[in-house]
Amino acid sequence: MGDKSFLRLENIAKSFASNLVLKDVNFSIEPGEVRALLGENGAGKSTMIKIIAGVHRPTRGKIYIEEKETTIADPKDGLDKGISVIYQELDLLPALTVVQNIFLGIEIKNRAGMLDKKRMDQMVQEYFDSMDISIDIHAKVGELPIASQQMVAIAKAVEHDARLLIMDEPSSSLTNRELEVLYKQIRQLKERNVAVIYISHRLEEVYDICDTVTILRDGVMLRTSKVSQMDRHEMVTLMIGREITENRINMRKEFEAPVILTAKGICLDRLLHDVSFEVKKGEIFGILGLVGSGAIELGKMLYGVIHPDAGEIKVSDKILHMKMPADALENSVSYVPDERRAHGIFPLLSVEQNSVITSIRNYTNRFGFLDHKKVKAAFVEYVDRFGIKIASTDQPIRFLSGGNQQKALIARTLLSDTDIIILSCPTKGIDVGSKFDIYSILIDCAKQGKTIIAVSQEITELVRICDRILMLKEGEVYHEYMGDEISETLIYHDLLAERGRKQ
Ligand SMILES: Nc1ncnc2c1ncn2[C@@H]1O[C@H](COP(=O)(O)OP(=O)(O)OP(=O)(O)O)[C@@H](O)[C@H]1O
Ligand SMILES: [Mg+2]
Repeated sequence: MGDKSFLRLENIAKSFASNLVLKDVNFSIEPGEVRALLGENGAGKSTMIKIIAGVHRPTRGKIYIEEKETTIADPKDGLDKGISVIYQELDLLPALTVVQNIFLGIEIKNRAGMLDKKRMDQMVQEYFDSMDISIDIHAKVGELPIASQQMVAIAKAVEHDARLLIMDEPSSSLTNRELEVLYKQIRQLKERNVAVIYISHRLEEVYDICDTVTILRDGVMLRTSKVSQMDRHEMVTLMIGREITENRINMRKEFEAPVILTAKGICLDRLLHDVSFEVKKGEIFGILGLVGSGAIELGKMLYGVIHPDAGEIKVSDKILHMKMPADALENSVSYVPDERRAHGIFPLLSVEQNSVITSIRNYTNRFGFLDHKKVKAAFVEYVDRFGIKIASTDQPIRFLSGGNQQKALIARTLLSDTDIIILSCPTKGIDVGSKFDIYSILIDCAKQGKTIIAVSQEITELVRICDRILMLKEGEVYHEYMGDEISETLIYHDLLAERGRKQ
């Protein structure tokens, strides 16, 4: 390596105030190489790429592009030097159209100096066609689903002639089909000799698409090697520095308890058709379905974010009339949303304030004021149990790493101490070690009598924790799995099978 590198970092260090986040990082990548960058939540991955992109300046160290020392003053400068980044929290402009976003800053003009809209439309359309992507190029980006926004972000990098494309958890909102498109895009970039840095918490993807892998732990560069020379077990152990099991961790074979929640004949426009099920008190109930199956919508409905066209939801024999989420809390139901930036966090408030915002009532003293001591005690306990990486409880939540924001959200939901907890894509963006911790905490909660409903696309996750799993396909119940049927192979096979109801 070395002399042919496109980019090289030499002894890069970065601190935020007294918090040393990157420690003497040495790193290099060659043209046409696809490199996985792995590490736990808060390890410093996003910080490292923000330095490469010119968002942050390193506290110390040198950056070389094609072996010439350089500085990257700001993201525009980075872009000019061939570095494009697709961030964990996408930074497209929602009010602009797809084409406007893609050509932002590199607009094509005709000879008269006017914007050549036709040419730009054509280029974007051709690119999408070549990738089999169907996105309305004149739609406002903010109105597109997250997955399409992701595709737009990649198209943008391609049109900007990136020589290094960095993707920070590009797959966390994608379906399998969209993941295939993403892979196709990466392969094409590789053919064009573009270097790619790929950050993901899903290790299968590393084996699918990456050539080499670099592991970062606590801001220290631990190891770089060929993917083919590192097995999964070694990868995980290096990342988190301890051994964890990837087997089922809910050991209950059967589970009997009174029913606490009933959904009957739920219909929603074209998304859900006559969906019925029952959930028992203290059960961990999974709702499994790919995007478009109606699973996510069903979760939102249980929480009152959207309303069924027909059918009813009962909690402890009381029909839920939920006009808004506050009504759900009234019924002792709480919710961890899947789109944390859009619906979850209050970015300007501190981690601690975020943690109690939905459960203020539990933490007020008899004069109605917030009991800070009580809040702190409860919160600190969760920070500890979840291993949330924070500099202090007053730190604004937007400065937490992506995965740690998600952990803080889950902690918040648990702090609100409701009987029923609904989680949508609970471990999106969470590293393998922390996933294990979260699963254990959820199982503890269930043992204490709390009812957990987890909506997810990840079979592995539901198989590890659920007592029962309801599979939805195209808005209909396909099958309910329990006991020995809770097997990853069986469920995976069914998920790919024809639609219709399993007998
Ligand atoms: N702007 C900032 N101000 C203060 N601290 C920050 C800032 N950005 C990041 N940090 C801190 O730097 C550390 C590393 O965060 P980073 O976002 O790089 O982690 P990550 O490896 O990307 O994690 P994840 O997998 O959760 O996305 C965290 O402890 C985080 O709180
Ligand atoms: Mg990150």
